[in-house]
Amino acid sequence: MSYQASTEEHPLTIIDIASLAPLVKARMDAGPFDYISGGAEDDWTMRENTRAFNTKQILPRVLQGIEHVDLTTNLWDIELSSPVIEAPTAAQGLAHARAEKAAAEGTAAAGSIFTIGTYGNTLIEDIAAAAPKAPQLFQLYMSKDDGFNRYILDRAVKAGAKAIVLTVDATVGGYREEDLLNHFQFPLPMPNLTAYHGSASGKGEGIAAIYAAAKQAIVPADIEKIKQMSDLPVIVKGIQASADAAVALGAGADGIWVSNHGGRQLDGGPASFAVLPEIAEAVQKRVPLIFDSGVLRGEHVFKALASGADLVAIGRPVLYGLNLGGAAGVESVFKHYQKELAITMQLAGARTIEEIKNTTLREL
Ligand code: FNR
Ligand code: LAC
Repeated sequence: MSYQASTEEHPLTIIDIASLAPLVKARMDAGPFDYISGGAEDDWTMRENTRAFNTKQILPRVLQGIEHVDLTTNLWDIELSSPVIEAPTAAQGLAHARAEKAAAEGTAAAGSIFTIGTYGNTLIEDIAAAAPKAPQLFQLYMSKDDGFNRYILDRAVKAGAKAIVLTVDATVGGYREEDLLNHFQFPLPMPNLTAYHGSASGKGEGIAAIYAAAKQAIVPADIEKIKQMSDLPVIVKGIQASADAAVALGAGADGIWVSNHGGRQLDGGPASFAVLPEIAEAVQKRVPLIFDSGVLRGEHVFKALASGADLVAIGRPVLYGLNLGGAAGVESVFKHYQKELAITMQLAGARTIEEIKNTTLREL
């Protein structure tokens, strides 16, 4: 029997983002749900990602005469309704029958940026066509075969991608125990692979096998190679060490994406929020800094911006909104983060995103 995905298409009434996962768990098969929700090994780093936000506090400020707050910001010349963007997640067909097309529509409707993933269930061109005027990035998993890299980058450029996101923290899959226990294999093809390889489509394989076909030995020179191939800015995603941020910048990175892949890769590593300040210190605002992993609240967004991030990305919450409400569900998720962030800004005395960035957090 073919994979039965959600066909929901309606806005969501969200009390808090954390309440979405149980609703999805109740309606999605264990294999796909555990693949989406799970981390690596003991899920320790995944849990730390969210817990770490409690290690720093936002001091409430009063008598600031603030009536309205302004969430707008930008990535280079791309205007954004808020600093919250979508993190690239593979195989969005697991969450919804319209997959990346619905997620891209909902992200665009929220005034945010969608990042097309190499391992998506939708052709790059069809995702671009789903939100023709909206800004999109393209996330690349490099292949050992430069012919594939050139081929897929050409398509991303022609589809209008504004930048390439080069993911460097998954040269081998994290030890995903839930997937092993579920014998999880992707039920749907990855057409951007099939279009080049013919056979190797990802369908009927687990993520470990797909990663094995990618490039493991990624080096700094690959940043320049991707820039040459695409003639686009390259954002390096998956940085957790300030030394790596310095190397990436030295190799020509146009952006740094601080991430531990939502705790799905090296379990036992620190929370992504814990390393953000030292990476921001190394980057010294020379390039845009995007942050993700474990962000469930508007106050988490605030704390990341106050710790050096320019933008904050969300992964799993977008997939939960997609499953529960399709494009409108994804838009509802972004609107909920924006609502919580606006309240936090008002109570913290921050009128604008720039004022958040100039806020000093308190430590326990
Ligand atoms: C991911 N992530 C990811 N990252 C990437 O660069 N390429 C990819 O194809 C994927 N695929 C993927 C699938 C699923 C199901 C998840 C949950 C995550 C990582 C993603 O971009 C992001 O770094 C994390 O999801 C952020 O953490 P949160 O927001 O999910 O806690
Ligand atoms: C994952 C890969 C696809 O985390 O990035 O599952």
